[in-house]
Amino acid sequence: MRQNFKVKSGNLFIGNIDTMDLVDRFDTPLYVTDERIIRDKIEKFKRSFPSADIFYATKANWNISILKIMAQENLGADVFSDGELYIALLAGINREKILFNGNSKTPEELSMAIKAGVKISLDSEDELFTLSEIITDDDKVEVFFRVNPGISVNTHPKIATGLKKSKFGIPTEKIIDAYKKTLEFDNIIPVGIHSHIGSQILDISPYKETMERIMDIVGKLEKIGIDIRFIDIGGGLGIPYNTEDEKKASNPEDLSSLITPIFEDRCKEIGIKPRLILEPGRYLVGDSTILLTRVNAVKDAYKKFIAVDAGFNVLIRPAMYDAYHEMAVANNMDGKVKDKYTIVGPICESGDILGEDRWLPIVKKGDVIVIFDVGAYGFSMSSQYNGRRRPAEVLVNEDKIDLIRSRETYSDIYGNMVIPPRLL
Ligand code: LLP
Repeated sequence: MRQNFKVKSGNLFIGNIDTMDLVDRFDTPLYVTDERIIRDKIEKFKRSFPSADIFYATKANWNISILKIMAQENLGADVFSDGELYIALLAGINREKILFNGNSKTPEELSMAIKAGVKISLDSEDELFTLSEIITDDDKVEVFFRVNPGISVNTHPKIATGLKKSKFGIPTEKIIDAYKKTLEFDNIIPVGIHSHIGSQILDISPYKETMERIMDIVGKLEKIGIDIRFIDIGGGLGIPYNTEDEKKASNPEDLSSLITPIFEDRCKEIGIKPRLILEPGRYLVGDSTILLTRVNAVKDAYKKFIAVDAGFNVLIRPAMYDAYHEMAVANNMDGKVKDKYTIVGPICESGDILGEDRWLPIVKKGDVIVIFDVGAYGFSMSSQYNGRRRPAEVLVNEDKIDLIRSRETYSDIYGNMVIPPRLL
């Protein structure tokens, strides 16, 4: 939220940098990330879970420079596709600390994971069988199963993933049988268990039951001779996007006090010493990043519309989840709030609304609107819809400014298209 950032002479600063200098230099729309915020959040997470492994959920933001920060901080990675695996390895994330997740992996993705020597989380028995078909006698692969614990969480329904009806994981009552099937294969070794109950979780109480259910399963697995060395409870810790959220939000310390005692007590009871894994995405990167977008027009119609140059092609969260992102006028941060505006993008769809009925100072054409908390699932979910080039990304650290992704060119949009000779 805006309190992460300073204001000088009415302009918003990120690190020690005036956002107006950034838009002059790099143009808009522009994603800007404050590296120090990410490092602070990592530090907080590590302090709360000193003996756990943190596998950053790359899907939240997989810019290679962000992943390099994670690698420098010795974090592992949760990857969900061949592309995420590719870039995590390229960024130097330790392969020992990579878990290849996903509910619909292709044989090609599985063999890439085997070759890379990373652990695989299996989401179905079919996936186990595909793995057994492609693995060679010289390979050995360590697997987890993703269990669906049937837990409901208070978040947007599109991002609750541990519900009974969810597509992810194997239902609790079928999970032991799935593990038993691995015993048929000498080189597929079950070493862990995985679950992820959802995202943007502010009320963390469901993690308690999740941890208990997982430990019940682990107890049963040990009894049939399956040695669980990794227990992965997934990601999902939410961040405040507004003052209402702020009252409800939990931090990693709260999460740790809730689940670590259960984890430790039950492990002692069972007589095992597995490692605890967490897969935070949003918590580590969400509030580190702002989106700067230029006002092309202000229109007094049915409502007062502000038309900016970023739409759901650049930030899809408001359109997809009705997500709230705080906004302000980056070149008039001290201005008195005067009017209620609806901020819309340039996409040819009525649903291209970034923020509805927001109180702002008087806004004029040419102003720059800042959208806060876009570091997670911002650029990573962007698209080229309407033939729009995706924006640039900049990384700031105090006085340092680095371009970490160039704005796309037209050939980035059209470069892969092929014209058959008969149409030439
Ligand atoms: N682990 C697994 C297996 C996941 O599927 C996810 C997120 C995470 C970890 C990280 O969750 P986080 O800590 O970031 O909440 N696009 C949505 C969020 C989708 C989350 C998908 N899975 C949004 O913009 O809110």
